[in-house]
Amino acid sequence: MKLWLNQLKQAVPSDLNTPAELARFELESAFPGVAFDLCQQDSMGDAYRIEPLGTDGFRLTGGNTGLLYAAYRIITDRLCGESLSSPVASSPAYALRMVNCWDNADGEIERGYSGRSLFFRNGRLDYSDDRIRMLGRLLASSGLNVLCINNVNVHFPAQLLLEDYLPGLARLAGIFRPFGIRLMVSVDFSQPMRHGTGTADPLDPSVREWWKETASRVYAAVPDLAGFLVKADSEGRPGPFAYGRNHAEGANMLAEAVKPFGGVIVWRCFVYNCRQDWRDTGTDRPKAAWEHYAFLDGQFADNVILQVKHGPFDFQVREPLSPLLLGMKKTKLAMELQLAQEYTGHQIDLYTMIPMWKELYEELPSDRIMSVAAVSNLGDDENYTGHPLAAVNLYTYGLLAWNPAVDAVSAVTRWCRLTYRFTPEQEQTLVSLLLSSRRIYEKYTAPLGIGWMVTPHDHYGPNPSGYEYDLWGTYHKADRNAVGIDRTHSGTGYLDQYPEAFREKYGDPASCPDLYLLFYHRLPYDFVMRDGRTLIQRIYDDHFEGLEETRSMAEKLLALPFPEPDAAVIRVRMERQLYNAREWCDIINTFFHRLSGIPDGKGRTIYD
Ligand code: GCU
Repeated sequence: MKLWLNQLKQAVPSDLNTPAELARFELESAFPGVAFDLCQQDSMGDAYRIEPLGTDGFRLTGGNTGLLYAAYRIITDRLCGESLSSPVASSPAYALRMVNCWDNADGEIERGYSGRSLFFRNGRLDYSDDRIRMLGRLLASSGLNVLCINNVNVHFPAQLLLEDYLPGLARLAGIFRPFGIRLMVSVDFSQPMRHGTGTADPLDPSVREWWKETASRVYAAVPDLAGFLVKADSEGRPGPFAYGRNHAEGANMLAEAVKPFGGVIVWRCFVYNCRQDWRDTGTDRPKAAWEHYAFLDGQFADNVILQVKHGPFDFQVREPLSPLLLGMKKTKLAMELQLAQEYTGHQIDLYTMIPMWKELYEELPSDRIMSVAAVSNLGDDENYTGHPLAAVNLYTYGLLAWNPAVDAVSAVTRWCRLTYRFTPEQEQTLVSLLLSSRRIYEKYTAPLGIGWMVTPHDHYGPNPSGYEYDLWGTYHKADRNAVGIDRTHSGTGYLDQYPEAFREKYGDPASCPDLYLLFYHRLPYDFVMRDGRTLIQRIYDDHFEGLEETRSMAEKLLALPFPEPDAAVIRVRMERQLYNAREWCDIINTFFHRLSGIPDGKGRTIYD
């Protein structure tokens, strides 16, 4: 099993207490004989400066955590064959660079594709210290600094993290502390009711008191806890709506409780009607987050961060940037990404995410958010991410959370170099396969921004009408003439939630980028695209190309000399991806062919 930084042969010992101590350990064991001068300046926080000294030595200046990031910078640069010959300074773009685990106390992971939880077993906190330290090294070396260990859907007994399990939480926080990683806990908004308050109304004095007392108990045990993460009034979770309160009232109540201890409330904006009647055409799910939150801009306490999924639906292969991330100018925001490959191949199919993230960061002015979060792809599989190549997503997520301007090729190359020993040519092959994998996956799955043609609930494999008459607001409305939803001003009005420049770019099918076409527009199959092809021909072509490109990707990938056991895992998963790609291609093409009755212009086989 190869993980990045596998060149560091010495495990992190258990008796290190601070990031600065760990920085010294990592440097001295990676480069014996090299002189390192570490100057701690607490005011620098995560930031650092590195100055080469003489022929082989370095001065590192930074906050406690800054020194650790500087150490990993030197180590990873050197392992990648880059030498620091002039001074460098660096500081992160975003203060909180978070990983959200959706781990349940019973050890299952919601949307987990890498085994079971690294933190919980049989309803209790139960972990291997060595694996936690290994994870700490992986996260810190990519610049990540907050880890929420339990699912946003807080199922019993996860509530006990704030109660009986607090000593275990404190111990875990202690293991992560030298890595500069602070824990966060997902909390159940109705938790005071377990203790007899009779209500969870955020304006009720007994509820407020319960949270204040709880926060002071929790922070006495874990003084550097980053805060609480909350999913409220969403998909059946309790929240302030039950009491006629809005989400600012709910979040601010919790914010007041953690404020004295420097904690934050990360409040998720994934709120929509998940019991929609498909006959109801007045509701358009992508509009929901804006409708619930935009009017509250400016009303949140300064230690509340609204965590907004990057797109308005739910982590589809392609979605536009959420309008909420652009529109709430008086509120602290975090963008939420998903490393877990829920809709993107379950860590069976290759899907390297950085090209998608680069598109998002390019549309999002850098000062609009102050933090980023990503749903974890980790589990207790030996390689932590199920598919050995899915680790590239965790690593590059961290690099971009530190600096969204990092370019995709250099980020992926860096991960390859830290993971495998390949010749430059092999490395280039792997980098280009990884970087093309998202577009290939997109081609053989749902077309042109439509999303959701996936097997319901499980979310792997095709089912073009699986969500069409369901409760979740995810409809494409394909009929014999047309497909897609008109979300422009004259349609559902979703596009009105965006600034003018967006409305202009996406509002007219003639100027809307192809890959978003069916997200914004309802179009007939004979609509002529900019390249002269009809819409239906483009759907057929993309799917056939996606399948062909998967076949060629498999050939190149399997010719690379991966070490065992990675090679075996990659081989087996690639077989499954080939099967999946064929199913997608044939089922989607057949679906549209049957509906439209229009044959493929190139005469390829589409099944009747
Ligand atoms: C998706 C996912 C759920 C998850 C939810 C969320 O809907 O399928 O498993 O709970 O997102 O983000 O809260």
